[in-house]
Amino acid sequence: MSPMAKVLLKEETLDPSYLPSRLVHREKELELAFRRYRDSLGKGIPYHLLLTGGVGSGKTALVRRLGADLERGGRLAGLPVRTAYVNCWRRASDRTVMLDLLRSVHVSLPDRGYSLSEMLDVFEQGIRRNPQHLLVLLDEASSLVRQETKLVYLLSRSHEVELGSISLVLIAVEDLFPFLDPASRSSFGVTHRLTLAPYDRAALADILAFRAELALRPGSFDPDILDQVARIAAPKGDARFALELLSGAAHAADDEGAGAISSEHVRRAKGSILPTVTETQLEALSTNQLGVLLSLSRMLKGRGSSTASQKLRANHAALLEELHAPAMSRTTFWRTLKELERDGLVTLETGGSGESSQVAMDELPASFLSTLLEERLGRARTGKG
Ligand SMILES: Nc1ncnc2c1ncn2[C@@H]1O[C@H](COP(=O)(O)OP(=O)(O)OP(=O)(O)O)[C@@H](O)[C@H]1O
Ligand SMILES: [Mg+2]
Repeated sequence: MSPMAKVLLKEETLDPSYLPSRLVHREKELELAFRRYRDSLGKGIPYHLLLTGGVGSGKTALVRRLGADLERGGRLAGLPVRTAYVNCWRRASDRTVMLDLLRSVHVSLPDRGYSLSEMLDVFEQGIRRNPQHLLVLLDEASSLVRQETKLVYLLSRSHEVELGSISLVLIAVEDLFPFLDPASRSSFGVTHRLTLAPYDRAALADILAFRAELALRPGSFDPDILDQVARIAAPKGDARFALELLSGAAHAADDEGAGAISSEHVRRAKGSILPTVTETQLEALSTNQLGVLLSLSRMLKGRGSSTASQKLRANHAALLEELHAPAMSRTTFWRTLKELERDGLVTLETGGSGESSQVAMDELPASFLSTLLEERLGRARTGKG
């Protein structure tokens, strides 16, 4: 048999460092920020922005896109726009950030003997030598700002516009406004703050579709798979997690030479990224819960990521018969499903009346679960263990 075609064709486009050409569902925010900078710099006035949003909400992608778009947009008030990106996560002091900024305007100073304001003078000279609007992107700025930075104030106050200007974007998960000193706050009024809401499931599915088209072989993933990934990532609204899952599932498919991603590959990827269910948790489940999970995992093995609750109930009844166990009433079946949902083992989606619910399971690869559950149910039935 000839090997199946690979799923993952352009892995680098799923890499966190890859900057996508557009940001699905962030067009409005990007356009708003772009317009504000363009209008202000066009008048020769620097502009500053506080950008806030949860983990994986697209903050870094948005500012990098903003910087690239402004750079490409041509001169404003006669000057080109350049960006300097600094990740302040591990450089949470004014001096270390300043050293990075100096490098961005091609000046190097030894890391000693200079005060912050001397460094800033040299920095401004660097800009004047090459007149430009410099857009300084300070990513992961929380600890810097919480340490009562002077740098933010100093950078937001340099006004030498004929020979160049300095504009800021401060990026953080939390709102930094309360941590700014009163003098800096005046640069970050209400029109200078932008908050990115977490992505919802539909937005995540669209982002996944866009990124999957870049990275994966056409025909190797279908909308159901993307929706399954989106559903898993939706409670966090985290696009990075969603893309990691997609990439993990694509790898799982390729490792197996499957030629296409199945929902089982997604479950496997989730299991390796977030081992949320431990064997200890499984040990704690009731025999009723185990039985329902087992029929669900058998039904889902290799087929789809969810099933109708009615089908599951019929399947479960057959399993009980097979095990010579007493039948389960509809109420007990529903209560058991609800318990599993509460424990985060299944997801229930009620479409109108309860009977037409969809039951989904993303926690574990069905194959792994089946083995474990069959073992335990076997033990329970023979009275051992
Ligand atoms: N709207 C979008 N369209 C396409 N890709 C996106 C979009 N939003 C985010 N991504 C991708 O999702 C990943 C996470 O986004 P990003 O790194 O910008 O999040 P973040 O808000 O900076 O997260 P953190 O707080 O962890 O730094 C990146 O790979 C990014 O390219
Ligand atoms: Mg980021």
